[in-house]
Amino acid sequence: MKLWGGRFTKQTDKLVEEFTASIGFDQKLASDDIRGSLAHVKMLGACGIIPQEDADKISEGLRNILQEVKAGSFQFSVENEDVHMNVEKVLIEKIGPVGGKLHTGRSRNDQVATDLHLYLRRETKQIIAHLVDLLDALVETAEKNFDVMIPGYTHLQRAQPVLLAHHLLAYFGMFSRDVERLQDGLKRIDSLPLGAGALAGTTFPIDRELVAAELGFARIYENSMDAVSDRDFIVEFLSAASLVMMHLSRFCEEMVLWSSTEFGFVELDDAYCTGSSIMPQKKNPDVAELLRGKTGRVYGNLIGLLTVLKGLPLAYNKDLQEDKEGMFDTVDTLKGSLQLFAGMIRTMEVRKERVAQALKEDFSNATDLADYLVRKGMPFRQAHEVIGKLVLYCISNGKYLADLTLEEYKQHSASFEEDLYQTIDIRTVVDARDVLGGTGSKQVEQSIRKAKVCIAEL
Ligand code: ARG
Repeated sequence: MKLWGGRFTKQTDKLVEEFTASIGFDQKLASDDIRGSLAHVKMLGACGIIPQEDADKISEGLRNILQEVKAGSFQFSVENEDVHMNVEKVLIEKIGPVGGKLHTGRSRNDQVATDLHLYLRRETKQIIAHLVDLLDALVETAEKNFDVMIPGYTHLQRAQPVLLAHHLLAYFGMFSRDVERLQDGLKRIDSLPLGAGALAGTTFPIDRELVAAELGFARIYENSMDAVSDRDFIVEFLSAASLVMMHLSRFCEEMVLWSSTEFGFVELDDAYCTGSSIMPQKKNPDVAELLRGKTGRVYGNLIGLLTVLKGLPLAYNKDLQEDKEGMFDTVDTLKGSLQLFAGMIRTMEVRKERVAQALKEDFSNATDLADYLVRKGMPFRQAHEVIGKLVLYCISNGKYLADLTLEEYKQHSASFEEDLYQTIDIRTVVDARDVLGGTGSKQVEQSIRKAKVCIAEL
């Protein structure tokens, strides 16, 4: 017998039962569902909507069920459709018809919305904690390798040298914005839908403030129809999650490149790589690749939910049941990805000789030579031309800028003096960018200090 069976004369078709059931996935919400019910029944008792004695019996029954859920011994069944009715059905079995008073003044519509808010609030906080740990890992790695300079790229062509720490702190910027976004989203997650009933409110004199206080919600949905049909907070979460994954994916792409023989800038730890079934020599950056790949499903979950919501009339529609799997999948993917990524960064070795060698074999100090001529009074556009010709000269003679004699320099411009060599030294090149936000050591040192303060304040 279904909990809603009164108006039906036939059994539900078996396939329909399976098709409409959400218990296969929404059992993940069981403990949040029971928490919500405990708060609801407490309020029902306190407001005299049901006798206190009944409220106490129901609470006790719910607590027993909660223990079974936590122990993994609670039996969920497809016949009971979803987590809400599974719990209620077993409650009634356990404590008798009085259990049927739990659903007074409530609907599954405001109930499921409440579960989602409770679940996502808890998980968002955990994800923020993982992100903060990742920020920590970035700062740690930046400090550990503070002396390392690497080629900086535009168009994946060598551009200007930077501190590795500066490169890492660029990701610090991205991930700290992600934290801000999730924190901001929390404001809207932290709102109570319960009390909205099916859509219009309830005829019982409920106390929504009491329930909000009991569940620790900062706000209460103002409009009952909005309360049961709003899933914006999940969309926001999925969107913030997509950005996190996009940032991880960009970094992972660099790890894949940097750990290749061609780059050889880093050695990823064996614990974070896997081998090949056929090629004995292989050590593959699988973790980085898979994190990059998992970005796809997280984007998919965002687009999936936006598409479910598009065109839904108010208020609750069964389509909304499709809000869960993508959200669960994103939460799990994100938590796993962040932890793995932080571990991969913490354990990777920077191959200092390789990056130092790479910097000797490029023209990433060319801009500084142009700036040098500007300081001698030449218009920048003309200096650009002179250095361009010099680079061309180097390429055809198999040399780099530091290899040319002063003689050769003077053939290109009379303004060159002995001090040019100091100017194009890579350390000078890096440290010369001593402007706010630049890669000069003094600036980056400051940035590390600020990053630590930022972590402490998060
Ligand atoms: N399992 C449903 C969901 O996840 C719960 C709400 C059902 N409400 C209803 N009126 N059928 O959306």
